[in-house]
Amino acid sequence: MSKRFSLILSLLLIFCCAIFGVAQTNKDAEGHAWWQHAVFYEIYPRSFADSNNDGIGDLKGITSKMAYLHDLGVDAIWISPCFPSPQVDFGYDVSDYENIDPMYGTLADFDRMVAEGKKHGVRIILDFVVNHTSDQHKWFVDSKSSRTAPHRDWFIWRDGKGLGQPPNNWISTFGGSAWKFDSTTNQYYYHYFYTEQPDLNWRNPAVEKAMLDTTRWWYKRGVSGFRLDAVDTLFEDPNLPDNPVLPGVNKQGDPNTDEKYNKKLPEVHDVLKKLRSVADEAGAVLIGETWTANIDELKQYYGEHDNELQMPMDFMFTTVDKLSPPEFRRQIAAVDSAGGWPVYVISNHDKVRSFNRYGDGKNNDAIARMMGAFYLTLRGSPIMYYGEEIAMENNDPKRKEDVKDPIGRTGWPNEIGRDGERTPMQWNTDTNAGFSRKDPWLPVPASYKTHNVATESKDPNSVLNMYKKVLALRHSNQALLEGSYTALNQDDANVMSYLRSYKGKAVLVALNMSSSPQKATFNLADKGFASASLKTLVATPQSSAKGSEVTLEPFGVVIAEVGK
Ligand code: GLC
Ligand code: CA
Repeated sequence: MSKRFSLILSLLLIFCCAIFGVAQTNKDAEGHAWWQHAVFYEIYPRSFADSNNDGIGDLKGITSKMAYLHDLGVDAIWISPCFPSPQVDFGYDVSDYENIDPMYGTLADFDRMVAEGKKHGVRIILDFVVNHTSDQHKWFVDSKSSRTAPHRDWFIWRDGKGLGQPPNNWISTFGGSAWKFDSTTNQYYYHYFYTEQPDLNWRNPAVEKAMLDTTRWWYKRGVSGFRLDAVDTLFEDPNLPDNPVLPGVNKQGDPNTDEKYNKKLPEVHDVLKKLRSVADEAGAVLIGETWTANIDELKQYYGEHDNELQMPMDFMFTTVDKLSPPEFRRQIAAVDSAGGWPVYVISNHDKVRSFNRYGDGKNNDAIARMMGAFYLTLRGSPIMYYGEEIAMENNDPKRKEDVKDPIGRTGWPNEIGRDGERTPMQWNTDTNAGFSRKDPWLPVPASYKTHNVATESKDPNSVLNMYKKVLALRHSNQALLEGSYTALNQDDANVMSYLRSYKGKAVLVALNMSSSPQKATFNLADKGFASASLKTLVATPQSSAKGSEVTLEPFGVVIAEVGK
């Protein structure tokens, strides 16, 4: 080989590595990538900050809060869909994947938000609604126009079984048949969610290409990853067999069914692998809305060769609604053994807020502090939900006519919808909690007077300051960043405790999940700490550590360094 040729070859190699490799090889000594050290924070854009006082949050509002997010200890924000949308499902019905809804701003505002985020060390994660579009998306408008339209096969069209008879018994999760008859072409189209959310046909390579290209387009614009919406529902059995009918009815009054033919089909994993390889080129992360029923399903979402989702969200903590150390231990052990990087979530825009879910009505603030100290110190990446850090509560509609979320209207009173967990962020004690000068799209609860950023910032024992202290520690303490997880005192029914250890150093976390004072003693000899002497790093006021013993007030917290 000539000298010059080998020089060109090595330059080419370096170039290729720079383009494709760097993002992935940017790992620490433990092989951890940026997202494994990151704290994520979900923003529901309608409700975070309203810059133009029209009652609805916007991108400029988010941009104005970057310093707040940074000081809180957030490394990446996942913004629920902010793309053009008729807002039937408040943004989860997208009519253009490559633009910003005017209600939220412009692409220029988006670029400024990315730049401002960069300044503050806050990355942007977008919400990619992969399963369906809005019925106003130009692809669907074309698709429904005629049986021979170029986009006809981008959605799922079928003949009915007979007059007024849909193709099969599949039920929309938002109520009624999952098939909607369209008289223009005398066929039914399939929608797992609202009728205004037709399912894309991922068996069509053109759909796949368009969707993969969309992710490339946003990566170029500075996005660090996506939260993939509703991935379980990407594929349906093309033969359309009826789903087995189960006893009983759901909250919308529809028969319960086993959704074996239209959910979690194996083909989902092929698409995730493709999305992942595009993400890898950009050093991006994929978070999945994955409703895993068990650890085997969770394992599959990581991919056999770590080639699918880096962060499948399993919602186990949102299903434990009582403070049960044994149940938490069981779930953490299971996730920790799945082989991937754990993801912890306690609230989101579809779930009753953790404040209400775990709260006992009397000690809710103490419980909120304790739950924060809990999931933010586990091994894995947490995804917070805006307002959780100030102990925001659900503000549920009291009357059907006040409900905005359509499922709350069709399902009332069994299903009251998701408005309660989507109310405006509470910034201060001004009107509308400082969110907007105009009445916001959803009302703030009366508790905003005490539970808001300004007031809680001044109180050293507030929920907000507990979150800040724990997040600061999490970013600086190697054992919390990198360390393994070991459950301690597993027979204790009241105190949840564990060790995070890394290279001979360890942090012990002890959490009183009961309403009475507790003590716990730790024997860490078999963990390499012969005479454990605990040194408190973060604790609630009446809780402390001495020697190898921890004293905890009701719902108290001690996070301590283990000395030798
Ligand atoms: C996901 C979203 C939810 C939305 C649904 C349909 O579950 O989290 O808010 O309604 O998908 O897009
Ligand atoms: Ca606005």
